[in-house]
Amino acid sequence: MNDTAIARLIAAEEKRQREGLEMIPSENHTSSDVLKALGSRLTDKYSEGYPGIRYYGGCEIVDEVENLARKRAQALFGVSHANVQPYSGSPANMAVYFALADPGDTVMGLELYYGGHMTHGLKVNFSGKWFNSVQYRTGKDGYLDYGAMAALVQEHKPKLIFVGATAYPRVFDWQKLRDIADLAQSFLVADISHIAGLVVAGAHPSPVGIADVITTTTHKTLRGPRGAIILCNGLPSNPLKRAERVKENLPTLIDRAIIPGLQGGPHNHQTAAIAVALHEAAQPAFKEYGRQIVANAKTLAAALSSVGYELVTGGTDNHLLLIDLTNKNIKGADAEKALGMAGITVNKNTVPFDSRPPFDPSGIRLGTPALTTRGMKETEMEQVAQWIDRAITAHGNEKKLTAIKQEVRALTEAFPLPN
Ligand SMILES: Cc1ncc(COP(=O)(O)O)c(C=O)c1O
Repeated sequence: MNDTAIARLIAAEEKRQREGLEMIPSENHTSSDVLKALGSRLTDKYSEGYPGIRYYGGCEIVDEVENLARKRAQALFGVSHANVQPYSGSPANMAVYFALADPGDTVMGLELYYGGHMTHGLKVNFSGKWFNSVQYRTGKDGYLDYGAMAALVQEHKPKLIFVGATAYPRVFDWQKLRDIADLAQSFLVADISHIAGLVVAGAHPSPVGIADVITTTTHKTLRGPRGAIILCNGLPSNPLKRAERVKENLPTLIDRAIIPGLQGGPHNHQTAAIAVALHEAAQPAFKEYGRQIVANAKTLAAALSSVGYELVTGGTDNHLLLIDLTNKNIKGADAEKALGMAGITVNKNTVPFDSRPPFDPSGIRLGTPALTTRGMKETEMEQVAQWIDRAITAHGNEKKLTAIKQEVRALTEAFPLPN
């Protein structure tokens, strides 16, 4: 690369990832095939529209790329329609709001501070500003409070209900959620961004056939490039026609919400990389990968609990752990910093009913997708739990934290990033 300044930064980031433990649960390490597709000439091409109906010439090949990505998404998840164009998870969710509701309509989602995402109705996000957002929460035990949610649905009758989370360590009961949505004939939208890889691996129940619309980012447990897809069932899409807001028309409503509703030209390099990731996720080995992510998270949870860490809900069913550090007398931010100095990347996070402010919360969130991609298993998780405990105990002590970092680095040599 001729741009030495950027080349140096790319190399430095690769080194940081290689020599450390990436434990932010929304992150992962992609394959070199995904990276090749991302770095391809496909990025040069404009192709507003959909395969066969483009506003630009020269789209024969990118049409094939997008059709392949769509077909692979449909087959992998078992749905009749997939839109693979959303630039990322937030615009995918935005498109779903526009497809299913009008500005000012009532919508519902899990409150950010209880594990939801900003786009699920946070007041300072478009979803809370342009829509009348009603937010549900978890109970004191950290589990989704289905009873309270049902009462809110009956009271507010939302047009749509977003279900999904960025920091929820348990599984979603999709059928129960469907029944709750049906109390007000609301559309049920499953945002499986965090758990998509677990869903396709059979390591988390699937909302397919239960939720009306499913959105997911492609870059988390699904292990693809940054991007997103929207999945649904219904009549074949006709993005050239306006469609009434009924379930049969979901494919057309979604496609029209993406373009002309929200986006311009699709990112064809990203679409190709998504297609590669979907192919990888369809291989038998991916089932084992999903199973191992959860097994690793459970091992980590048990090891940390055994040395006094308080896990929200008492454990995990998926890829992540949410730890309330109040009893350890350390704030989330200080733990994040100490762990960072020890070569372990996590993020500070609110815990349900946090007594501290959202920007300076009581907890940390950590997960196992990236470590599992590197081939780490239960034995390594036991070791990682020990390092986490030592680093949190040693916070502020640079010498001790640097010593842990060296041990971490030694382990990572045996678990290279994918090539
Ligand atoms: C549940 C959920 N939905 C949506 C998003 C948004 O994705 P992006 O960051 O790609 O916009 C995230 C990202 O963290 C997420 O966790």
